[in-house]
Amino acid sequence: MITIKSEEEIEKMREAGRITALILREVAERVKPGVSAYELNEYAERRLKELRAAPAFKGYPHPSGGRKYPAALCVSVNEEVVHGIPTKEKVFKEGDIVSLDFGVFKNGYYGDSALTVGIEPLSKRARQLIKTTREALYQGIKKAVAGARLGDLSHVVQTYVERRGFSVVRDFAGHGIGTHLHEEPQVPNFGIPGRGPVFKEGMTIAIEPMVNMGDWRVRVKSDGWTVVTVDGLPSAHFEHTVVIRDGEAEVLTVVE
Ligand code: MF3
Ligand code: CO
Repeated sequence: MITIKSEEEIEKMREAGRITALILREVAERVKPGVSAYELNEYAERRLKELRAAPAFKGYPHPSGGRKYPAALCVSVNEEVVHGIPTKEKVFKEGDIVSLDFGVFKNGYYGDSALTVGIEPLSKRARQLIKTTREALYQGIKKAVAGARLGDLSHVVQTYVERRGFSVVRDFAGHGIGTHLHEEPQVPNFGIPGRGPVFKEGMTIAIEPMVNMGDWRVRVKSDGWTVVTVDGLPSAHFEHTVVIRDGEAEVLTVVE
């Protein structure tokens, strides 16, 4: 069931979204050569405590029944697409494409956001990959308006990406969000215009294009979580939580 949020609930989601965005921005500023993904997660967990919020991902049950997600932050480098675990061994270096995914639980509601930062020097194609993925998210956000259909959003994300010679990941999608991290509907990054549910006032969704430089296909590594591209080429990821408000998309995962 797709839930419609009241103005009171939307205000709580703004708060969760602000904290998500603030900490994610601070974490992103700390991506430098020699820094480890583990340190970034430690930083995020400390800031969550200071801001009296809880991590959305830590302890999240594995979809196929394996071990729970062990951290607050997902750090996925280069060929890692999503759900990379922030280990001490994951030390950043020049040329890395670092995707950070972060979620917050505050006052009963969730915020969820992701972004990708490149560590210069980067190849032109790597820079294009990051830029295309960010812009695909904003193209999708523009379609999250009352009266449009989910398929319109999915389609614009897919075509924006594919026209630039990249591919969209199909095994993972965005999602409704609210009192649960994952609510209905699923928000795929590919689809057919005019299909799917109609967007209505008060719907809250997380839109999250995952874009590969090469083949769209992915597999999960033996740690049970880390999703990687099958061809070993890099991937990028951007995500915002949005509400349909006054007929338009309002991005919730932003710092005031
Ligand atoms: N943004 C991702 C998602 O919404 C992050 C989930 S990580 C998990 O699916 F550990 F919570 F699964
Ligand atoms: Co998400």
